[in-house]
Amino acid sequence: MTDSIEARVGALLARMSLDEKVGQMCQINAGEARLHEHLRWALHAGRVGSVLNEVDVETVNEMQRLAVEESRLGIPLLIARDVIHGFSTVFPIPLGQAAAWSPALVQDAARFAALEASRCGVNWTFSPMIDVCRDPRWGRIAESFGEDPWLTARLGEAMVRGYQGEDLAAAGAIAACAKHFVAYGAVEAGMDYAATAVPPNEMHNVHLPPFHAAVEEGVAAIMPSFCDLDGVPATANRPLVRDLLRDSWGFDGVVVSDWDSVRQLAIHGFTEDDRASAREAAEAGISMEMHGDAFACHLPSLVAAGEVAEETIDEAVRAILRLKFRLGLFEQPYVDPPAMPPLDAGELHRTAHALALRSCVLLRNEHHTLPLQRGQLRSLAVLGPLADAPGEQLGTWIFDGDAGRSVTPLQALRDAGANAFDVLHSPVWPTTRSHATDGFAEAVRLAARADATVLFLGEEAILSGEAHCRADIGLPGAQTALVRRLRELGKPLIAVVMAGRPLTLTDIIDEVDALLFAWHPGTLAGPAIADLLLGKASPSGKLPVSFPRMVGQIPIYYSRRNTGKPPSPESIVHIDDIDANAPQLSLGMSAFHLDAGHAPLFPFGYGLSYAHFEYADIRAEPASAAMGEPVVVSATVANTSSVAGEEVVQLYLRDIVASVTRPVRELKGFRRLHLAPGESARVSFELGPQQLAFHGRDLERRVEAGEFHAWIGGSSEAALQVAFRVLAEG
Ligand code: GLC
Repeated sequence: MTDSIEARVGALLARMSLDEKVGQMCQINAGEARLHEHLRWALHAGRVGSVLNEVDVETVNEMQRLAVEESRLGIPLLIARDVIHGFSTVFPIPLGQAAAWSPALVQDAARFAALEASRCGVNWTFSPMIDVCRDPRWGRIAESFGEDPWLTARLGEAMVRGYQGEDLAAAGAIAACAKHFVAYGAVEAGMDYAATAVPPNEMHNVHLPPFHAAVEEGVAAIMPSFCDLDGVPATANRPLVRDLLRDSWGFDGVVVSDWDSVRQLAIHGFTEDDRASAREAAEAGISMEMHGDAFACHLPSLVAAGEVAEETIDEAVRAILRLKFRLGLFEQPYVDPPAMPPLDAGELHRTAHALALRSCVLLRNEHHTLPLQRGQLRSLAVLGPLADAPGEQLGTWIFDGDAGRSVTPLQALRDAGANAFDVLHSPVWPTTRSHATDGFAEAVRLAARADATVLFLGEEAILSGEAHCRADIGLPGAQTALVRRLRELGKPLIAVVMAGRPLTLTDIIDEVDALLFAWHPGTLAGPAIADLLLGKASPSGKLPVSFPRMVGQIPIYYSRRNTGKPPSPESIVHIDDIDANAPQLSLGMSAFHLDAGHAPLFPFGYGLSYAHFEYADIRAEPASAAMGEPVVVSATVANTSSVAGEEVVQLYLRDIVASVTRPVRELKGFRRLHLAPGESARVSFELGPQQLAFHGRDLERRVEAGEFHAWIGGSSEAALQVAFRVLAEG
């Protein structure tokens, strides 16, 4: 079949005029005007390859009819939409999905999203977003899988499998698009669209691996970022797009620009005008221009003038036609919803609930405050605007999310409390951004009456996502002040935080008895949070990103390099502990901040459970391995509590000495395990080139002989350690 696709692509291309070829390279936004006149003309004339933002299936079918039955060559359309973490049914934001550390659930969620979206005519999504991000000021961290390349790569692969399935031509499968190529998560100051300046070592060992994994997984498309990458915008970056992605990695899919990013090359100051922008983008390897007309207006004349070779156009068009053949659009361009594969609503519901449940991370639970004992509870105060915000709990990038399907925490707690306990509710504020305190009296009155209080804190969906960055990532408004007021009551105070990013929780973390970080958990936020609060399930989420103590620590991440003066407990002095007239050299001379130390408030991989897990007996076999021989690192994990629970067992590695400095730890494996009370299991990870290799000074990928340390545990601070050696060849 693949050969026939290439033959069919070649045969069709040979029949196309230059204008028709350039037409395929244009993606037009349907938007509010739906089938607007320009779009109708372009479809009829065969001058459009893709439409985005049309999800009315009748309109989509009419667009396809115009393209297929009225244009000269009848080439069907790619119908694109941002289906980022669900379509009508919304799953947790990707950062929350990452906290579940479950590729299987992420894949299932993407499959359901594809089933729902394809019924509306969508056959291409701009997802997964696999930008590694270590800066929670950046609003788009919400769409990412967090700070780690390995976790991001595994979950990006899973999303691609979920959307695309085994066969792109199968009904219900949609093309995936990995974005934003590359290092968009490293924008300066965490400010969206800002320049990035990522050195080659970090580019190849941190930001590129998830994209290489997505390409190896067969992702259908790649989207370069808006960003200026060290002076060359990604949209016109030939070394990255043409040389690395296409020539070195062999990617033969579609490279679609981001929204109008071709014309933005002139705004960057990289080109004189749209004509030059069209030339630079096409030469760099961009196949399709999203919502811009630089290609349409200028590529024909650029080819005629010999400034752009027609072979460059042909390469772009081949990629587009190849994807359309792979999607089966020439055989079946129209969508017939009743003929689509069945969507098991019960299974969809179970997946949405399971993913939301496992995405929540228990960060504090003093005196076993949680779970709440339903049988002993007479009344529960449920406070804060996010307790009952059906739209907000869906998070950012949910164009088609149906808030009518949402079950809020307030609703779920009321349902759970029926015939058991009263729920006393006040939103306190209209939004979390409010600085008003006039709602405090009512909140305190309800909390005083109740046996316990669940205070919903955080930020609404609008405070994260594209272009929604924050220089201070504390709780907005007067939320901290209310925590302190409620703390004075001396009654059990549980915080549930919804947000699209890590927040600096330093001011409240010791003021609450328990804190559950829920991100934006999607449609079934309520049942998931209620089940966790009431002990129907034990929290099992683990942080996919470090939580700073204060914003000044950013970028802060676990897989840092050691430096020549690494921090140590004895070398750290707090600003409040500095003696008067302290001599200059009297403080620790190492890598830390006087007012924050060096560690985050909560580290990558961290998360509590109602159960208790202990690790023992770590081994590396063999202890000395020939180059290329696998090493198996294993350990026993036991649930020593009386509560069943799931644990995410994590494996970290350090390459002690290498030709470039290597991180003090890197995640290289993980497994989610269910353990009954008293149950234990032996978990092993096989280490080979995929885990041990890195890009060296020459940027070539290699494994180097020498000593490695491995840790297995429940967070990036795992203590159980073993060493092994890789022997030099020969
Ligand atoms: C946006 C985003 C990109 C999205 C595209 C289409 O600006 O950067 O992630 O897929 O435009 O909506």
